Formats: sequence, C-alpha cells, structure tokens
Amino acid sequence: MTKSHIAIMTSGGDVPGLNAAIRAAVRAASFYQYKIIGIEKGYEGLIDEAFLPLHSGSVSNIISKGGTILQSSRSERFKEEKFRQIAYQNLKKHNIEHLILIGGDGSMRGAQVLAKESGINVIGIPKTIDNDITGTDFSIGFDTATNIAMEAIDRIRDTATSHHRLFFVEVMGRNAGYIALEAGIATGAEGIIIPETNRDLQLLYDTIEQKKNWKNSSYIVVVAEGDEIGGAYRLEKTIQQKYPNIYTGVSILGHIQRGGSPTCRDRNLATKLGIASIEAVNSELKNVMAGVIHENIQYTPLENIGSRKLKIDDNIIKNLKILSK
Ligand code: F6P
Repeated sequence: MTKSHIAIMTSGGDVPGLNAAIRAAVRAASFYQYKIIGIEKGYEGLIDEAFLPLHSGSVSNIISKGGTILQSSRSERFKEEKFRQIAYQNLKKHNIEHLILIGGDGSMRGAQVLAKESGINVIGIPKTIDNDITGTDFSIGFDTATNIAMEAIDRIRDTATSHHRLFFVEVMGRNAGYIALEAGIATGAEGIIIPETNRDLQLLYDTIEQKKNWKNSSYIVVVAEGDEIGGAYRLEKTIQQKYPNIYTGVSILGHIQRGGSPTCRDRNLATKLGIASIEAVNSELKNVMAGVIHENIQYTPLENIGSRKLKIDDNIIKNLKILSK
C-alpha cells in the first residue's frame, strides 16, 4: 500500500534549529516510508508551487547550520482567500495529505485556517526565539538566542567595567520578555526591563541609588524590545535626565540573535519535535502541534495554540532584589 504524502515548510522569522527539525522530520518520514516534499518560503511557496522533493541525502550535514534550507516568509497573500485557494489546489495536485508546519503562534493560526478550509492534516512544530507560544515549555531557537544574547552582554560588560559605564542592551522578544529575563539573570544584569511588569523600573532606580557611589562598578540593563518604556534609547534618556553624571551607552543586539549554529539543546529539541511530527502522522493524529512539556512529547490541538505570556510572580521579583544587593 502506498502511504500518503507529507509536505514540510518553515514559516515566519528564521531561528537556529530549523534545519535540525527539517532533517529529523525527513529522516523519520523515510523511516516510516512516507514520501516527503519540501515547500520553499513558507506560505508564499505554497501559493507559488515552490515544491522540492526531499530524501535522506538532501538533509545531510545541515544539523549545525542556522537559517533554513527551505527558506521562510511572513506571507501577506495567504491572508487573502483567493491565494489560499491556489495554495490548496497546489497541495492537492501533489497528493499531499499532511503538512508539517514549523512556525510560531502566527503561523499556527494560519495552519488552523488551512486545515479547516482544505481538509489537509496540519502538524505543527513550535519555533520562535521569543518562546511565547503555548503547548510547549520551550520553542526551537529560544535557547540559542538567549545564549547569543548572554555572550554579547558579557562582552559589553567588559567595556562597561573598564569605563565605569552604564549600558542599556536591547534584546529581541517582540511583546515578550523571556530572552531579556533569562539573559539578564545569566549575565548578572543590574536591571532587567520587560513588558510583563512595570515594577522593573523602580527596581532599577533602587539599584542605581545603591551603587551610585561604588567607584569601580559597571551597570548592565537588559531591555526587552517590547517594553512599554519604548526601547533602550528611550530608557537611556530617562536615566540621563534623572542621573546626569552617569556615563551611559546603548547596544541593540537585533538579528544577531537569530543567526548562527544552534546550541546542543536546540538541536536536540528540534530533532525530537521533527521525529514527533512524523510519528503524529503515523499514529493518525489530526491537526495538532508537537511540543515538549516536562521533558515529554505532548500533542496539543492546533485550536488551543496561542501566544503565551511570561508570568512574573513575587518569587522572581524577590530573586531580582536579592541579586541586586
Ligand atoms: O518573532 C521573532 C522576532 O525576532 C522578534 O523577536 C522580533 O521582534 C521580530 O521577530 C523581528 O522581525 P523581523 O525579522 O521581521 O524584523
């Protein structure tokens, strides 16, 4: 009996670990004897019929590489029904019954529409450096991004210390503070400014007051790009007005956080989820996202996937206070 055909694509912003997930899914498809086709440039490639047959050999030596061999996009056209219909016709023309979609929460919302309108079974794999997607404890790319941010902040610390200077380092995360919190704690930052709390600015003032007379101290303030304060430059202005004698600087890390070789943790997470996506097809699961919760693979219906908000409890605030002493 010929098994059904599977397509795989990456959608939304790239993250380190996408290739590891593609590799694992392609190898698992081969193991379970499915034909697998790659779709280039995410939803855009579905519309333009950019289909590419894949086999075990096509994914050799990609596990350590950043970016995505399938390329990616944020598609505006897929929001329009006439383009979605073209995409569905293309999938049917190639006898595709299952689509493995590696994406963030926005892409998963698109997947729900696709599954509903076309009847094609969509299996999601969560990726975003922002880590703000439900149905998994960690999304692919988050660990690498936080490690890149941590290394960059450590380097900035050297300059800050040598010149007794306060640096505001802006990290990515869109509306979420996961990267800022993790990288901030890991680098011993004196301030961590995130969108999930407005108690962080007062904490920063308190720390500056305490450290003001320390002759050789440096300050690092990690600022999440989505904070209501409006970014690192705005915060620098606010602090300069309050403390005109502090020598300040700003560094925006930007897309550096999305590139390069994935960490061991991201490669292994991506590998687990890539295999789990094909095993979902093989077990006849329909329209679910594979995630890892408490170290175990768990499948969550796509309709329950959304954006996740970092919870800042009193314990985190207490720890930050302790660390700033
Ligand atoms: O969602 C991932 C992310 O890197 C966010 O952290 C950031 O706000 C956004 O994408 C940047 O998007 P773009 O690459 O389109 O500028």
